[in-house]
Amino acid sequence: MVAAGTGRGPRLERPDERGRFGEYGGMFAPETLMPALEQLAAGFAEAWVDPGFTSEFHHLLATYTGRPTPLQSADHLSREIGVRVLLKREDLAHTGAHKINNALGQALLTTRMGKSRLIAETGAGQHGVATATAAAYAGLECLVYMGEKDIERQALNVQRMRMLGTDVVPVTSGAGTLKDAVNEAMRDWVRTVETTHYIIGSVVGPHPFPWIVREFQKVIGEESIAQLEGETPDVVVACVGGGSNAIGMFYPFAGREGVELVGVEAAGHGIETGRHGASIGAGSPGILHGARTYMLQDDEGQVLEAHSISAGLDYPGVGPEHAYYADTGLARYVSITDEEALGGVDLLSRAEGIIPALESAHAIAWVAREADALRDRTVLINLSGRGDKDVEMIASKIGMR
Ligand SMILES: Cc1ncc(COP(=O)(O)O)c(C=O)c1O
Repeated sequence: MVAAGTGRGPRLERPDERGRFGEYGGMFAPETLMPALEQLAAGFAEAWVDPGFTSEFHHLLATYTGRPTPLQSADHLSREIGVRVLLKREDLAHTGAHKINNALGQALLTTRMGKSRLIAETGAGQHGVATATAAAYAGLECLVYMGEKDIERQALNVQRMRMLGTDVVPVTSGAGTLKDAVNEAMRDWVRTVETTHYIIGSVVGPHPFPWIVREFQKVIGEESIAQLEGETPDVVVACVGGGSNAIGMFYPFAGREGVELVGVEAAGHGIETGRHGASIGAGSPGILHGARTYMLQDDEGQVLEAHSISAGLDYPGVGPEHAYYADTGLARYVSITDEEALGGVDLLSRAEGIIPALESAHAIAWVAREADALRDRTVLINLSGRGDKDVEMIASKIGMR
């Protein structure tokens, strides 16, 4: 089960029988969900070795979502910052972000398990749009929970989901962001588990979700390796909310000699202000949404609100596999403020003619900030999504209205 490491801790092909990556992960779920989680783990394990299932998944990735997404040498940006930058263009996948890989995979799994209804939670809306799209394609009923604050800042994606025939339900509890939407989706699932599959949008939640989502997303790193044609990047960078685009990119590279993996979390207003989303950088281990992982919590173990300008990074936890990567040194985790991320949007838009999602802009901004240290190295950045959804927000923040 364990692939060869490089002295930095082994990469785990599968979580152990308790659903753990080292001491992280697990199945901390209500009694009523345990049979469904066990059925899902068994159903996925069986599907993932069934050539009929995997070939349907890969056929759809090629004919429906437009994979492989390009690997672009960002020559203008490279010249401007003095670092050789390659971009994996997940923004060019159908619906505009990496989220579609997972949503399609889990929708196929839902049909295979004989269920007829999908639910999902969404922050930036990209996972909601991806799930609504997959539901329309697969002919499944669909409902998406979204925090009211996120409904406001991601209006374009709310409209897209509704056009695709999905019910978008505002969540008013807590801060009205992603954490609260996850809670609401879990509550729905407990009531409806006989007919409904819950498509979690990131590598978070109880086992087997972190494993399933990583398996559907690892195509990002696998394609990158094929497209690099034998070249090895020095550094691979991705933004980290729950961590699905990052683990999809990192996992195939993990443990390779000479490759450093860097996950970029949201520093929000600044780590020192307490208003951020840096679960690894400034959090501690605890249990959130069914898994043991790094999370933001107070001394009593109460979950703290996260903050980020980007709805997709505004989450007080991170996937358990990242917690494992952080502890074993397979990857390192850094953070970028809201202000710096806006600079990242501006830089990529002007240099390359690509408006990135605010989430992905965190990865761009980190490379630009660290350019001196990265000189003469090749950096592969996962551009997780496009910025159309953020145009209003960015314009209001930088006074372009
Ligand atoms: C474009 C984009 N990038 C990144 C993320 C963060 O999620 P994850 O860390 O699971 O990739 C989101 C989440 O909505 C997103 O829409």
